[in-house]
Amino acid sequence: MEDLANKKILFIICGGISAYKSLETIRLFKKHKAEIKTIITKNAKEFVTPLSISSLSQGKVYEDIFNLENELEMDHIALSRWADVIIVAPATANTISKLSNGSSEDLASTVILASNKQIFIVPAMNVRMWEHQSTKNNLKILKSYGYKLIGPVIGDMACGEFGEGKMSDPLEIFLKISNFLNQQKEKRGVRALVTAGPTNEYIDPVRYITNKSSGKQGYEIARSLYNRGFDTTLISGPTNLSIDKNINLIKVETAEEMFKATQENLPTDIAIFSAAVADFKLNKKKKDKIKKEEMFTINLEKNIDILNYVSNHNSMRPKLVVGFAAETKNLDKNAISKLTNKNCDWIIANDISKKGIGFNSDYNEVIIHYKNNKIPKEKLSFKKKSEISEEIVDRIVAQIN
Ligand code: PMT
Repeated sequence: MEDLANKKILFIICGGISAYKSLETIRLFKKHKAEIKTIITKNAKEFVTPLSISSLSQGKVYEDIFNLENELEMDHIALSRWADVIIVAPATANTISKLSNGSSEDLASTVILASNKQIFIVPAMNVRMWEHQSTKNNLKILKSYGYKLIGPVIGDMACGEFGEGKMSDPLEIFLKISNFLNQQKEKRGVRALVTAGPTNEYIDPVRYITNKSSGKQGYEIARSLYNRGFDTTLISGPTNLSIDKNINLIKVETAEEMFKATQENLPTDIAIFSAAVADFKLNKKKKDKIKKEEMFTINLEKNIDILNYVSNHNSMRPKLVVGFAAETKNLDKNAISKLTNKNCDWIIANDISKKGIGFNSDYNEVIIHYKNNKIPKEKLSFKKKSEISEEIVDRIVAQIN
């Protein structure tokens, strides 16, 4: 692990039983030479003390927005500009709710509202609070602002219940933030294009053929690429996901539109095709809505294969072309034949007959096959799609380096 000298971290500690974990996290950052300032909320003081934080962080602890001494030394705008990154840990359901509403009622929320830096939210709360629809909605809003989430994890809770909502361990928080800070150094000047989500193939103006792809895997790959310094374009079929505004998001609906958007975004250095493009479209879409009484037949024709087009392009073939294969049987055999037939450099196969992975899940399990078996196939075992994406991007970075 590289040291974090000259990296400035602003910790915001909120009131929760897990606040003690923030002390251990601060200790880890200090060990790696990061500079730390901390804001402690009124409620957090019920769990940890400013003295213990400043002893560990060897930095200033701010408590009150109306404290004249603080404002003279460093006002809340300057404090938010000072940091390279802001970590809210533990982030309670109440804090998450306040941040999603743009509240600025205390120093912590004011600094966040005024910030132009990456904000990491480390939730910690009871499982029912975590699962509540209002918390989910609030987090969706925060994600759409580009905030990143670390955890929570599943486990025994201080309240005696068991489930998801437990704050991530200090080491995990430390590793994720350190990775982010180290990646900031790399601006690669390398373009990446990702396709994601399903396509809709219209029968008439209101009915269409589609599939269960949620776009999650592709969005996570785009996110990981962007975080690792790639200039990222994401061409997405219809999904209800959001993505960092610095990623060039192009929304499409049909395979034809996805193809056109892909063509318009060539050349690119690397291309990853995770979209579940409908293989067929109607050869003649009905102009008007079909009436219930009407008898009709659907004639299908093949959609253009976007991956095939790009990987066989004479003048604009990307340096690295990665396809996906969603299979229900003969995983290796079918994936390898797609690798060859579609002229990919890698194909990433998921066995979508397995419960809980692939389409519309937060989790996946994949096997990566490499062209000509130059590298033996690799399995990335069952984990979150965000983690699978990180591991795929690790390999992409190694390849282009
Ligand atoms: O979106 P999620 O809910 O997160 O689910 C993720 C996923 C299961 C959709 C993803 O992991 C995945 O496997 N994507 C590919 C799905 C698929 O349609 O595979 P395929 O075997 O039909 O196609 C093979 C490859 O050709 C894919 O890279 C596909 O993007 C590409 N293709 C296919 C048809 C077409 N007309 N154009 C294409 O580019």
